[in-house]
Amino acid sequence: MDKLTFYKLLHVFALIVQTAHTFMAFANPDRANRWLTLMVTGIASLLMLASGFAMLAIQKIPFSSGWVIVKLVCWLALGSMAGVVYRKAHLRGLLSLVALALILVALVMVFFRPF
Ligand code: HEM
Repeated sequence: MDKLTFYKLLHVFALIVQTAHTFMAFANPDRANRWLTLMVTGIASLLMLASGFAMLAIQKIPFSSGWVIVKLVCWLALGSMAGVVYRKAHLRGLLSLVALALILVALVMVFFRPF
């Protein structure tokens, strides 16, 4: 397996883990699960960022490309969602819609690279 394929696999796997655990928090924002959720989403989030930058470096894509900046904003916002839902559980319906929108925007950025 070449390096790019390895980082793509890691990136997508970490995305699935992060999304799954974030939506578990939306479904059951019981504070007893808070630390485990924050640990799992935190690690997955760091792996997404590291693999994203590794792919940029391998392909010599500038870090300042518009689509990369938009993905970084989506990544940051998605990463904060699990932390927020334990404090504002009544907003979980809205937060889950926002999370879906962030994921969609990040996917459009990587598949269409509009900027
Ligand atoms: C919520 C945030 C994110 C989502 C949903 C997401 C999703 C994805 C997906 C599904 C792919 C695989 C595309 C393919 O198969 O070709 C991908 C690739 C990639 N992502 Fe992300 N990503 C996110 C955040 C980031 C961040 C923060 C960075 C940069 C630090 C990044 C950089 C990249 C790069 C460079 C690729 C490879 C693009 C290519 O070679 O075509 N992503 N991303």
